[in-house]
Amino acid sequence: MTRIALVTGGVSGIGAATAKSLKAAGYSVAATYFGNGAEADAFSRQSSIPTYEWNVADFAATQKGIAAVTRDIGPVDILVNNAGITRDSSLHKMTLDQWRAVIDVDLGGCFNTCRAVIEGMRERQFGRIVNISSINALSGQFGQTNYAAAKAGVIGFTKALALEGASRGITANAIAPGYTDTEMVRAVPEAILKEIVASIPVGRLATPDEIARCVLFLVGEDAGFITGATLSINGGKYMI
Ligand code: CAA
Repeated sequence: MTRIALVTGGVSGIGAATAKSLKAAGYSVAATYFGNGAEADAFSRQSSIPTYEWNVADFAATQKGIAAVTRDIGPVDILVNNAGITRDSSLHKMTLDQWRAVIDVDLGGCFNTCRAVIEGMRERQFGRIVNISSINALSGQFGQTNYAAAKAGVIGFTKALALEGASRGITANAIAPGYTDTEMVRAVPEAILKEIVASIPVGRLATPDEIARCVLFLVGEDAGFITGATLSINGGKYMI
């Protein structure tokens, strides 16, 4: 049986690498994007992965989007919640909009997307959910009270969902990537990024493919005993 996988924020960075890895492994894959239509078109042309545009922070749009994926491809067996944004600012300068935007996309998006697929997974007695958190949920990061809170929320959300899914064949795990070579990380001011890279024991950023291979591991049919875990992939920068 070909399992159907949906990757949010799946046309660039970690999401794109994950979508392509899942496809190469034989899954039927769809990817979502929001706002970056040209990038989505190029991704879809190059990978032959269908893309869908909606804002994961919008509950109704997410319900509608998942219904479209289900109609076109089939019910979602594997969900990778990767869509995320940053609005870095120290707290004393942070606006309410910067706080809300990050909480609504990075944490709210996780709720909205899981909520839209969970009933189907329960009925079919199978599901694999991987939520992309961050090293900064665990370590904290100057300028990221919003992002660290949202991504730490994702870890708690994942653990609670793992408990609820355990008797229904549904696993829920989080991945906490370290600094990875993506547009998001390249947007960090150069001098700060240089210092960050210098503090990574492995001595470099992760590649998106290195994160994708861990998603692939967690969504396998034979990964049913791995649930509620948070997998750190950070080159040794933060160990717990
Ligand atoms: N630790 C301690 N002090 C720091 C600091 C740090 N990391 N960074 C800045 N400071 C200090 C400065 O030296 C300065 O000190 P003085 O006032 O004594 O001169 C002061 O804090 C500046 O504070 P401001 O609030 O004025 O900072 P700012 O507005 O200039 O910049 C910032 C704040 C925009 C958040 C900037 O620090 C920044 O961009 N930091 C990078 C944040 C980061 O790593 N984001 C990760 C994005 S990638 C991602 O999130 C993916 C993932 O999952 C890993």
